[in-house]
Amino acid sequence: MQTMNRPVIRDATEADAWAVLALFSALHQFNATLDARFALADEWEKVLHDHLSHIRTAGHGITLIAWNDVTPVGLIMMDGHMDSPLFRHRRWAELLALYVTPAQQGDGVADELLCRGITWARGRGYVRVQLYVTSSNMRAKRFYARQGFVPVQEIWRRELGHTDVEPPDDVMCLAAYEHGHDLLSAHPHHLIIDDPHEETR
Ligand SMILES: CC(C)(COP(=O)(O)OP(=O)(O)OC[C@H]1O[C@@H](n2cnc3c(N)ncnc32)[C@H](O)[C@@H]1OP(=O)(O)O)[C@@H](O)C(=O)NCCC(=O)NCCS
Repeated sequence: MQTMNRPVIRDATEADAWAVLALFSALHQFNATLDARFALADEWEKVLHDHLSHIRTAGHGITLIAWNDVTPVGLIMMDGHMDSPLFRHRRWAELLALYVTPAQQGDGVADELLCRGITWARGRGYVRVQLYVTSSNMRAKRFYARQGFVPVQEIWRRELGHTDVEPPDDVMCLAAYEHGHDLLSAHPHHLIIDDPHEETR
């Protein structure tokens, strides 16, 4: 649906936390309709709040909100990611979240948010941006393809059904959170953008 005014994109301030949480929640509610395994945890708001504070202090990521007057209508979150020292090419920018409210979809807001995110990544010296997308999220995949992203790896899943055995505590959890999703995993994620050269940083 077209709107009269172009949304204005601004860095999210601490006072905008409510808007980030609202858009992030809407994004993940949508994601959970595609795959229930991506439902947010009970304590997600605190985790996200801590993450945003950390990003703001450390300055290695950005959170932008698109505003339609006083209504938040779009969100992008990007962060610097570093893979395990196991790997030769470790640094890349991760698109952690991209969401546009249904009424604004198709209106160019996502293009503008992504453009700002990529400008940030380039400015920080990154030569690639990567992201996760649910394989059934056809609209997002079409959008990313139009933006020059290509799939480079896939997650495959096999459900194991009920078990009485508790999984072990994830001792790497905190460190993995700092460094991205998979500190020691062998897969440097799924989508890669537009520059074949590896990172120089
Ligand atoms: C993904 C998202 C940010 C894209 O923004 P958008 O404004 O909807 O994107 P656009 O309308 O510019 O582009 C979407 C493309 O998908 C197409 N499309 C629309 N509905 C579609 C559908 N049901 N199936 C497949 N493609 C579809 C559009 O025609 C367009 O393709 P085109 O550019 O080749 O014409 C937005 O849809 C969104 O926030 N979705 C919900 C959250 C989400 O999925 N976030 C990404 C998680 S990784």
